[in-house]
This record gives sequence, structure tokens and C-alpha cells, in this order.
Amino acid sequence: MRVHVADHPLVTHKLTVLRDETTPSPTFRALAEELVTLLAYEATRNVRVSPVTVTTPVAEAHGLAIGDPRPLVVPILRAGLGMLGGMVKLVPTAEVGFLGMVRNEQTLQPDIYAERLPDDLANRQCFVLDPMLATGGSLIAAIDFLFDRGAVDVTAICLIAAPEGLEAVKKATEGREVTIVLGALDERLNERGYIVPGLGDAGDRLYGTV
Ligand code: PRP
Ligand code: URA
Repeated sequence: MRVHVADHPLVTHKLTVLRDETTPSPTFRALAEELVTLLAYEATRNVRVSPVTVTTPVAEAHGLAIGDPRPLVVPILRAGLGMLGGMVKLVPTAEVGFLGMVRNEQTLQPDIYAERLPDDLANRQCFVLDPMLATGGSLIAAIDFLFDRGAVDVTAICLIAAPEGLEAVKKATEGREVTIVLGALDERLNERGYIVPGLGDAGDRLYGTV
């Protein structure tokens, strides 16, 4: 598993505002989208491309096109939906599929309650969006789901992760082509499975249910 933790003042600045409990939902939503756009730059480093030639007003130019098959972007509902706009702004030709997951707050086990994805993901590159990687249970279930459908590589973009969750994902995905791109790697999980210092419940903060 490849892990990349963003080391850039713009990312850290935006994450700092995002973490602040006084940041209201509209600002939180705007920042989540801006952050995913910045992280997508690294996450798409190995996106599949094909050579193309275009004609400039001066001469022929050889370039690249993000191509066939199109990358599949998978936001994990609900909180991952807050990252979708920022991702498709950067990769507008991507296909989008949805996975709805909720973590049982007593057992901390993930439950898949909705799915709208192509049946056959053979040979597809997938980009999972979920702001929080806490115990790792949700991301592991999402990655398993995509590989079971035939995906060949999965990159997850998460805004904040806990070391415990990152380690769990690493163990569970051994031997598979998995990349995790993070805005920050925090200190730890607390006894309720929340990331410390984290930002609280990402879904609640995005959608104003606090
Ligand atoms: C949050 C978050 C992740 C999950 C992370 O979702 O968006 O999907 O928890 O926790 P884990 O790493 O311990 O599995 P939540 O279950 O709160 O659902 P929501 O997005 O609908 O709020
Ligand atoms: N889900 C969240 O939204 N935040 C956490 O800290 C852990 C799980």
C-alpha cells in the first residue's frame, strides 16, 4: 500500500479552519471541496492516460488524455459526497458511482446500505472519497467491495486519518494495488472511535446536523 500525506501549507491551513469547531457548515463544505481538489493532484499521479495529438495554431502537439476506461470516482455516502464536487472539477470525464455506508457507533462496524456502481469493474481504476479514516472499517469494506467487482487499483482520498485505521487498511489490503492520499495523519483514536484531534463527525458538520 502506498501512502501519501500532503505536506503543503495550503492544505494544512485549510484543514486547520476545517477542524475549528466554530467553522459553520457552508464554509466547511467549501473547504472540503477545495481540499479534495488539492489532494486529487497527488491521487491522480498514476491515472491511466493515452497519447493524443492536437493541432495548435502553430504546429502539432503530442499530449495525453485521461482515458479509456474512464476513472471511477466513488464517494462514500454521506460524508464523502461533500468531496465529490472538488474531484469532478479536476477530472470532469470521470464516471461516478455511489456507496452508502454507515458505521454502527456501538460496534464501530460498517454497514453498506446503498450501492449504485457498475456491476463489472474489471480493469477499472477507482478513486474512493471519504473524509475520515478512523478505525478503517468503512474504507476496508469499500475497497473489498470494489476489488470483488473486478477493480484493478483503488486510490482513497481522505482528509484526516488515524494511525490505527491506516495500519488496519494496510493489513487488510496486502498484495493489492491500493494508494491512500491524506491531508493529515492525526495522533490516535479515542475510546469512541473518533479521530483525535480530528474534526468531529464529518457528516454532521457538512450537513449541519450538529
Ligand atoms: C464516517 C466517515 C467514514 C467512517 C469512518 O461516516 O465518513 O465513512 O465514519 O469510520 P471508520 O474508519 O471507523 O469506519 P459515518 O459512518 O459517520 O456516516 P456518515 O458519512 O453518513 O456520517
Ligand atoms: N467518523 C467521523 O466523522 N469522524 C471521526 O472522527 C470518526 C469517524
